[in-house]
Amino acid sequence: MDSARHILTCVAWPYASGPRHIGHIAGFGVPSDVFARYQRMAGNKVLMVSGTDEHGTPILVAADKQDVPPREIADKYNRQIGADLRGLGLSYDLFTRTTTRNHARVSQEIFTGLYDNGYIFAKTTLGAISPTTGRTLPDRYIEGTCPICGYPSARGDQCENCGNQLDPVDLFGPRSVINGETPTFVESEHYFLDLPAFADALTEWLRSRQGWRQNVLKFSLNLLEDLKPRAYTRDLDWGVPVPLDGWRDRSDKRIYVWFDAVVGYLSASIEWAQRTGDPDAWRAWWQNPESRAYYFMGKDNIIFHAEIWPAQLLGYNGEGAKGGSPGSLGHLNLPDEVISSEFLTMEARKFSASRGVGILVSDFLSRYDADSLRYYLAAAGPETQDTDFTWSEFLRRNNFELVAGWGNLVNRSVSMAAKNVGSIPEPGELSTVDRALLETTRAGFKTVGDLIAASRQKAAIGGAMRVVGEANKYLSDQAPWKLTETDPERMRTVLHVALQAVDDCKAFLTPFLPHSAQRVHEQLGNDDLWAALPERREVDEDGGPSYDVLMGDYDTGARWESTPIKPGTPLAAPTPIFRKLDPSIVDDELERLSGS
Ligand code: MF3
Ligand code: ZN
Repeated sequence: MDSARHILTCVAWPYASGPRHIGHIAGFGVPSDVFARYQRMAGNKVLMVSGTDEHGTPILVAADKQDVPPREIADKYNRQIGADLRGLGLSYDLFTRTTTRNHARVSQEIFTGLYDNGYIFAKTTLGAISPTTGRTLPDRYIEGTCPICGYPSARGDQCENCGNQLDPVDLFGPRSVINGETPTFVESEHYFLDLPAFADALTEWLRSRQGWRQNVLKFSLNLLEDLKPRAYTRDLDWGVPVPLDGWRDRSDKRIYVWFDAVVGYLSASIEWAQRTGDPDAWRAWWQNPESRAYYFMGKDNIIFHAEIWPAQLLGYNGEGAKGGSPGSLGHLNLPDEVISSEFLTMEARKFSASRGVGILVSDFLSRYDADSLRYYLAAAGPETQDTDFTWSEFLRRNNFELVAGWGNLVNRSVSMAAKNVGSIPEPGELSTVDRALLETTRAGFKTVGDLIAASRQKAAIGGAMRVVGEANKYLSDQAPWKLTETDPERMRTVLHVALQAVDDCKAFLTPFLPHSAQRVHEQLGNDDLWAALPERREVDEDGGPSYDVLMGDYDTGARWESTPIKPGTPLAAPTPIFRKLDPSIVDDELERLSGS
């Protein structure tokens, strides 16, 4: 194995504007956790950060709808989303939020650094206001036809169809989504990020990327064809104040939500370092040229991670066309890989919280186990193409692959050994088939690990489950239950080999199925922690308002290698690792879906 590397795992920040459905977490949640867990087991030093994205119009829209202050919306959904992600077992080193003082400070530092290097300039633009109320109409309240692809319901800030970032004034036929009126555009002063000044640096950076999914790289390179300065302040009173003289105390101007959201990766790393007692610890992930940074998201976020955030970092470092020097934090690393998944649909329909299509993470977890969902999303999620979630496929994968495949292998081997020997049996001489199986399971570490490292998680879990299949076949062929009287020594050998195979499979399935891996670990006679789960901690900033974060001590003994099991370890009769689902859940769920 290579020597330990620092691996920064950046996970897209869900908006705290409502409860999240499984479509949201399919894109960023499970893939990032599989990756981080694997990297930790492989001996690397992982820092995995994210939080709720609490600024911008999504939160204001929700606040307006529920007629409460935005802070209340942010608090409520920050807690709920934190609970969901914890329930899924996502191993964040820190899952925080963008309304912390630390985050405002770091966002302003990046803004100031860009300004000082000349990459942010003021310009008067046209901002939309509602003719009936005279109030600013934020981007998300404006819809119209996309000037780039012609999509008729493009939002003022971004076109959902082609993914391009827009300004409301670019839209054809702009209208207010509140009451359908045509906004009026009035002059308003804003600060712009000088994206064209990064054209060369971004091109060079993108061209030197390796291992990216082709669609992501192509999309990102395409974006460079049309780099224009972008307004990075907004006429809003909710967000991070603009840290420039004359603007700092204005209540009607804020930094654009996407500017501060992506800074979250850095601010969360800094917060993590403070919370763990070494305020400079974040630097090992952000400033060491040997460290690697991986960013996980859904495809609608590519532009912000493959163009805007790299531009912000280049500008802060003084590495754009106008030169400059790094700000007070020092030089910061750009992303190494941007890993984007495609969209998940639900029974052939687009997820929609407002139309009730889909299933919330919290509802899912109230009826099914986290590992069942994690398994489904890893094996059949939208890794490289839009993919449909169906309940019948969920049932099939749970019952036939998890329960009858992996669960059955564990259950058969442990219960036979527990009943006939009472402990992990001592093996006798190994036969060719025994050795062949153990070679297969050992080889699984390399195959599965390399595929996870290359962001090919579907192939990785497929490979892992093929090894499970081999082990099940071995057990059926060797039929140790027929040997209890005739050849107990051979029976013990077969059970030993089967249990070693179970232990190996447990290890390389851990990134995908941490909860059940822990149960398998215990059924194999261990009582230590194998796969750690995130914990909710209540924290504050120097006595300020308290909030909940997810953190965890993930440094357990789990290693990405075959560990010899110890003969003599007592084994008890096992209970099933996975729950078999009744086929009636399919109709029940479809009914819920159509009833909503
Ligand atoms: N909140 C955004 C979304 O849900 C994602 C923000 S990712 C970040 O689409 F990097 F900007 F934080
Ligand atoms: Zn478009």
